[in-house]
Amino acid sequence: MIRTVLTKPYTDQKPGTSGLRKKVPVFQQEHYAENFIQSIFDALEGFEGKTLVIGGDGRFYNREVIQKAIAMAAANGFGKVMVGQGGILSTPAASNIIRKYKTFGGIILSASHNPGGPHEDFGIKYNAGNGGPAPEKITDAIFEKTKTISSFKITDIGQIDIDTIGTVQAGGMTVEIIDPVKDYAELMESLFDFDAIRANFKYGFRMRFDAMHAVTGPYAKEILERRLGAPNGTCRNFKPLPDFGGHHPDPNLVHAKHLYDEMMGPDAPDFGAASDGDGDRNLIIGKGIFVTPSDSVAMLAANAHLAPGYKEGLKGIARSMPTSGAADRVAEKLGIGIYETPTGWKFFGNLLDAGMATICGEESAGTGSNHVREKDGLWAVLLWLNILAVRGESCKDIVTKHWETYGRNYYSRHDYEEVETDRANKLVDELRAKLGALPGTSVRGMTIASADDFAYHDPVDGSVSKNQGIRILFEGGSRVVFRLSGTGTSGATLRVYIERYEPDKARHDLDTQEALADLIAAADDIAGIKSHTGRNKPSVIT
Ligand code: G6P
Ligand code: ZN
Repeated sequence: MIRTVLTKPYTDQKPGTSGLRKKVPVFQQEHYAENFIQSIFDALEGFEGKTLVIGGDGRFYNREVIQKAIAMAAANGFGKVMVGQGGILSTPAASNIIRKYKTFGGIILSASHNPGGPHEDFGIKYNAGNGGPAPEKITDAIFEKTKTISSFKITDIGQIDIDTIGTVQAGGMTVEIIDPVKDYAELMESLFDFDAIRANFKYGFRMRFDAMHAVTGPYAKEILERRLGAPNGTCRNFKPLPDFGGHHPDPNLVHAKHLYDEMMGPDAPDFGAASDGDGDRNLIIGKGIFVTPSDSVAMLAANAHLAPGYKEGLKGIARSMPTSGAADRVAEKLGIGIYETPTGWKFFGNLLDAGMATICGEESAGTGSNHVREKDGLWAVLLWLNILAVRGESCKDIVTKHWETYGRNYYSRHDYEEVETDRANKLVDELRAKLGALPGTSVRGMTIASADDFAYHDPVDGSVSKNQGIRILFEGGSRVVFRLSGTGTSGATLRVYIERYEPDKARHDLDTQEALADLIAAADDIAGIKSHTGRNKPSVIT
């Protein structure tokens, strides 16, 4: 039943920040998905007879690729696949399944927060046996295989019924269709004080969770409404749709503006949250206050001991370089390690595996801990709910008290999307070329203390990752960071991260863009953003 099918390499299958992401029509080219899946298997060793987890965020083309992956896993010698019912597994749930059942690894089909549909995005990524995204060593090996692939193996097993929970034999392999929610919900119950959260809901605490028609709908319904007793209707847009209802399943202030508006309005519930396409990102908005992801990781770390799963305290905190330094102040006060990594959750894997960090966070709306090896949207929401229930204070009070204790890191990210790749590269090249000359010079009355291109030296395996973002540090601790996104699918996206630390309590309620205005202007003076991109303002401000 095993067929070897001849194929030709595609030249564009280099995995990015988070796996291979392309438009659906690209994936629909002959053997495009098969080539990549075979290259994953070709780059791995020792999986004969072992188990592979397969699931995705339910976007358009998910079901088709799941069938291919099952048939190819059988042909390549896996002993078993565990597949989320309906092809559904959120990214953190997949990570949990890989770890809990000690499987060899997993294939996750997702393009995260990018839109879905026949002309939108699709993605495939491989997670290793620790449950985390494959490290660069493996993704580089996969890319090498894609360049020389000449055939792939597939078994003719017909369409597997992925909608019925249970176990069948197919092509000499066991196929188990699993409940995508159950194991994950149990994990959350083991970490958080469900009794306290349940009591809070019972006494009238109101929240809104927006699943954005993406994968977290079934998870949020089960955990928030069924297990925690939040009123029916707490979860909105909870039915996963292949095109996410035509929206971007990106929980930010642009794509979840309706939630923001509701939370700022007169009838706002106590707490609002949303998650992205594959369930690993989070948006947190208290009544009358938006919590930036950089602040959120700092506040979660400062209060984590209030949740049973973290009552022993944290071993360390890790954040990506462009994420604000708010978490650093918490780590300092707790007397624990703080680690600064490049953008991309995969860089936290070694620190988590080595027990050096417990909580990790990124400015790109990712927060998580050592409970899995992915960031985890609902985990962040539940930790917030746990903290709110135990402290019995409003989100706004918790945030403002945090700033009073630690100072406030004003922070914003400006994105210039779909810039012509050549123009974006030119901006970065020119900036890089003048880095050496910047220290000591002054821009808009602010003196540049240092300027460099961030390189990460992994303290666990000694590997070095260079060119991870250009940092301009000013005297006094303010900074501007420039980097090109590694997750876009058309053109280049320039990200400019702007941060200023404000210790003075009397100056903690300024408008963020106003508080950062000088730095925003300085960023343009230094990098020539407007002239290089031809844009006079960012496409997205978060
Ligand atoms: C994905 C990764 C994150 C990363 C984010 C931003 O979501 O999982 O770890 O922070 O992409 O990537 P980008 O390269 O677009 O800034
Ligand atoms: Zn995601």
